[in-house]
Amino acid sequence: MASYVPGADVLVRISVRNNKALVDLNTKFGAPVDDAIALLQQAEQAGLHAAGICFHVGSQSLSTAAYEEALLVARKLFDEAEALGMHLTDLDIGGGFPVPDADGLSVDLAVMMESINRQIDRLFPDTAVWTEPGRYMCGTAVNLVTSVIGTKDRNGKPWYILDEGIYGCFSGIMYDHWTYPLHCFGKGAKKSSTFGGPSCDGIDVLYRDFEAPALKIGDRLLVTEMGAYTSVSATRFNGFYLAPTVIFENQPEYAARQKTDAEDKDSEAAV
Ligand SMILES: Cc1ncc(COP(=O)(O)O)c(C=O)c1O
Repeated sequence: MASYVPGADVLVRISVRNNKALVDLNTKFGAPVDDAIALLQQAEQAGLHAAGICFHVGSQSLSTAAYEEALLVARKLFDEAEALGMHLTDLDIGGGFPVPDADGLSVDLAVMMESINRQIDRLFPDTAVWTEPGRYMCGTAVNLVTSVIGTKDRNGKPWYILDEGIYGCFSGIMYDHWTYPLHCFGKGAKKSSTFGGPSCDGIDVLYRDFEAPALKIGDRLLVTEMGAYTSVSATRFNGFYLAPTVIFENQPEYAARQKTDAEDKDSEAAV
């Protein structure tokens, strides 16, 4: 970094513990806390500006304590650095803020944020604090509409093959350890059903023992919470196209249809 961006502000990322995160990033990232000061010094000696500390408590963190603990560790490092003549000005607390209602959980984000903010106000009143929220911003912003493209009966149990699978938007099942809520709209008695993706791989099974009404080819299904770590890791394995993304607000066709529907309703009302 020193040779490419001499003088740049740099932060040292420290490893923090959190066994209440769905995705632990600290298995790969973050220097041991004991090495942080030496790294800041090394950065200074290399002609960079040691500006602060960063951490990421792990994604979909259900623990406020992890942030609080990391903030305490960071405060200690800020103080140690100060004693050595390095004035740190920036703290990046990463992402990790959870999708509040995922998987039947009910996380009170307001309470969580309040205690994190309280700790920040107490420990870092004069520091520039950044954050990098990811899934919290977009996790629930996207729905997948997928279709049944095949049906099978296996020992009296229905199997449905969908046009989207684990190599597509459902890649988050593998990479993000996520279970996406599935909604079927058929009527009738429900049966324990299995749903698979379209690829040739045996791993491409998305839902097992899912109580679903009888479905047929062409039926559409809705999958929610598809906004984070889904399409971004989708592949074209087996030659299937990536699912197109439709942004409703920006769809001229959608907007036009809304307008026509509204006009139709108005003229019906007039009649
Ligand atoms: C450095 C960094 N910042 C922010 C994020 C976003 O995290 P999240 O979606 O948990 O908020 C990630 C996710 O991996 C990350 O690696």
